[in-house]
Amino acid sequence: MKTVGCIGCGNMGGGVLRGLAARGGCRLLGHDHSRSKVDALGVEWAGSPLELARRAEVILLAVKPYQMEAMLEEIRPALDASKVVLSLAAAFSLDKLRKGTAGICPVVRVMPNLPVIVGRGVFALCFDDPVLSEEQRGELLNMFQSLGRAIVLPEAQFPAFSSLVGCGPAFVFLFMEGLLNAGITMGLKAPAARELIAAMVEGSAKLCLESPESFADLRVKVCSPAGTTIRGVNHLERCAVPGHVTDAVLEALKRDQEMAR
Ligand SMILES: NC(=O)c1ccc[n+]([C@@H]2O[C@H](COP(=O)([O-])OP(=O)(O)OC[C@H]3O[C@@H](n4cnc5c(N)ncnc54)[C@H](OP(=O)(O)O)[C@@H]3O)[C@@H](O)[C@H]2O)c1
Repeated sequence: MKTVGCIGCGNMGGGVLRGLAARGGCRLLGHDHSRSKVDALGVEWAGSPLELARRAEVILLAVKPYQMEAMLEEIRPALDASKVVLSLAAAFSLDKLRKGTAGICPVVRVMPNLPVIVGRGVFALCFDDPVLSEEQRGELLNMFQSLGRAIVLPEAQFPAFSSLVGCGPAFVFLFMEGLLNAGITMGLKAPAARELIAAMVEGSAKLCLESPESFADLRVKVCSPAGTTIRGVNHLERCAVPGHVTDAVLEALKRDQEMAR
């Protein structure tokens, strides 16, 4: 049985460990500044990053990007060729990961998103490190597929994935806030409106995933001639909402590029 350890058990690291614990099939270790975060996940506590790196074969780093270099330095004495280091940090390149691990073991970049917390994450995995074996690629892809959806992407496409899928939940939540304000304005109670909006977004997303039709074709199905929906859609189009959404993602991309420098 493989031992998978995660350093940093906040939103992302905690979500990954919780999902892996639910799936079973591997021994799990966690380390965080706060022991209570690890205990709450029901995984084994490792007393330090170095101890975790010694005991785990798969080492996940889920600390903030600016903490990554120091963390790699701290765990380096425990690395050997049989281990693999995965980084979930945004805009932390494979090159920096290789430098940080001194090329001792294979490295993988993973880009998660927030719904990992509820087992519905969408992940990109970068397998560009040639040292990574076919067996390791297969095992890691399976592991992340069990936490939601996972695809393999070349590192060159990580900024796009990160700006769209990593940042995306925040853009969706902002849209949902607008819907919530409308619901309350029309007299619905906030908790009821919140639940209805979330269920509506979940159902719409499920329909998109299960239908081969384009987003535009699905939208037209809701817009009856001379009906209510088309009035709202016309307003959003007049305000250039789709263009602004595109620009929001491209702004996130610019920041990703700044951070990567
Ligand atoms: N949040 C997102 O939607 C998202 C999306 C894509 C990628 N990411 C990436 O995922 C990574 C983690 O983000 P997050 O949102 O999960 O952050 P988070 O909730 O702040 O979790 C990070 C955890 O790591 C702990 N930590 C930091 N340095 C440590 C150290 N030296 N030893 C032990 N524990 C340490 C932090 O403890 P303290 O708080 O006490 O420092 C915190 O509990 C980041 O690199 C981010 O770029 C996040």
